[in-house]
Amino acid sequence: MTALPAPRPAEDDEGAALFRDAGCAACHVPILAGAGGRAVRAFTDLLLHDLGPGLAGGFPEGAASPGEWRTPPLWGLGASMRRGDRLLHDARAATIDEAVRWHGGEAEEARARFLALAPGQAARLLAYLEGL
Ligand code: HEC
Repeated sequence: MTALPAPRPAEDDEGAALFRDAGCAACHVPILAGAGGRAVRAFTDLLLHDLGPGLAGGFPEGAASPGEWRTPPLWGLGASMRRGDRLLHDARAATIDEAVRWHGGEAEEARARFLALAPGQAARLLAYLEGL
């Protein structure tokens, strides 16, 4: 696994800026320092966050309380959508847009910013995410 190259997202400055400005990058941190200081474009902070009652599982899992989930990496998101994978911990979301709409709690503000985007900007951000 360590020998495999990390997926290289397409360069898309406008999409990256929308992602950052909406607050997504606070949890889906675009670049982590990997082994040997190599940059890994994983789009996660690897931390637990409370995403509100809408996503709460109703039972504690390990050290996480019922509403807490570990930020999943978003790398390879486009490929996984093309494979027909579903999103979120219980696979409830069929699309990226739907997954973002389920965000609440600590991610409520980012969700609100996403919903407030003009349709063209939202499409731009979704295209960026599909390119990861
Ligand atoms: C407070 C931290 C936080 C912020 C801010 C946040 N997310 Fe997330 N995101 C998460 C967590 C935690 C999950 C996993 C939730 C689950 O599995 O139920 C998640 C899941 C996702 C998923 C589904 C990934 C998968 O593999 O299932 C997508 C897509 C996503 N986020 C995109 C975004 C976008 C776009 C934004 C900005 C509008 C955003 N997120 C803002 C923490 C965050």
